[in-house]
Amino acid sequence: MSVFSQPSTLLIPCAKGIPPFLAAELKALGFPVVAETVASVSIRGTLVDAMRLNLHCRTGQRVFFQLASMNCPAQDGLFSRLARIPWENYIPADGYLSVTSVVDHPSVRDRRFINQKTKDVIVDRIRRLRGRRPDSGPRRHGVVVHVYWRRNQCGIYLDTSGESLARRGYRQEGGKAPLQETLAAAVVQEVAWNGTGTFLNPMCGSGTLAIEAALKILDIPPGLQRRNFAFMHLEGFPRSTWQQLKREARRQARQSLPGRIIATDHDRAVVKMAKQNARRAGVDGLIEFGVGDFAQIAVPEGGGVVVLNPEYGERLGQLAALEGTYRRIGDFFKQKCAGFRGFILTGNRDLAKKVGLKASRRIPLYNGSIECRLLEYELYAGSQRQKV
Ligand SMILES: C[S@@+](CC[C@H](N)C(=O)[O-])C[C@H]1O[C@@H](n2cnc3c(N)ncnc32)[C@H](O)[C@@H]1O
Repeated sequence: MSVFSQPSTLLIPCAKGIPPFLAAELKALGFPVVAETVASVSIRGTLVDAMRLNLHCRTGQRVFFQLASMNCPAQDGLFSRLARIPWENYIPADGYLSVTSVVDHPSVRDRRFINQKTKDVIVDRIRRLRGRRPDSGPRRHGVVVHVYWRRNQCGIYLDTSGESLARRGYRQEGGKAPLQETLAAAVVQEVAWNGTGTFLNPMCGSGTLAIEAALKILDIPPGLQRRNFAFMHLEGFPRSTWQQLKREARRQARQSLPGRIIATDHDRAVVKMAKQNARRAGVDGLIEFGVGDFAQIAVPEGGGVVVLNPEYGERLGQLAALEGTYRRIGDFFKQKCAGFRGFILTGNRDLAKKVGLKASRRIPLYNGSIECRLLEYELYAGSQRQKV
């Protein structure tokens, strides 16, 4: 049996706040959730399942395939267990290996020591059995082994992704404070636009929210554009299965939308960047880009969702100016967005209060280490006022 068809635990790490989104995604992909922590979700699956997840998963950071899990009070136990794993079945002797780790154990001052020693144990075993050893180094462009050792519990994994899954490959240029693609995907999941009416994204910056919305609504997997994943470098990588997974995904993807996606920003250079990002993602034909102040844009009839991710500034002068912006967002919602559901993603609660409307929901999310809220506002049409 190929190592690609053996089942094990698949652990998908993610940012804080994301596990409920990730769990919902995994269930929708047909994987019952086995465990959920503050920053990961675990399921059962094979390396082929891991390939499928690398292609389809929008909110997870990586896909880890578990090789061993043990009680590990001391380093000796870790290295002797490592030496018994049949690495030669997973790592080609002419391949490239890097080791990463998360270590929280009193015997370890510098986790680089664990990485180095783990690498030595692996390559020594492969050299003994195969007559040559893989190259190794810090770059995650080949096989990646991950050691997670916390207190007395240790897990040894193949990181089947390598580079973070947030790096879809479409965004080569930033903009001001771009959202991580995985966080943008969680926002898109939460706003639950059904593809009719309009997905309106004033303040689009580098276009991440609009691009992720287009990919999701058209059922285009986020990993379709990416050229390299760590699983491709494992022994026995079933290339034809990978190509078939991509073919199936392309066949299932929708070509057009009943609704519209509109992305605007007042910064012309940023909009140019967003267009280039959308082109790389293959969705530029579906997103209507425009330049202008958010309050001046023509809001189409027919409702939908309007999603804003304004800056939330750290310096004092900035904050004063931003108060005005948040106040104007409230006015914009009331005056121009009746019939829409409004959303604001912000990391500053005081600024959020300046919107002057009562949020119907406040969903906690993290942008890096900054605790944010995705605030939802129901904006009724006609004489009905915003729900309070
Ligand atoms: C935090 S960034 C948005 C980042 C975006 N979500 C991304 O992933 O790249 C805020 C954006 O709002 C834009 N912006 C600020 N004030 C604006 C205004 N009055 N009208 C339109 N855009 C504005 C900025 O140019 C900036 O690109």
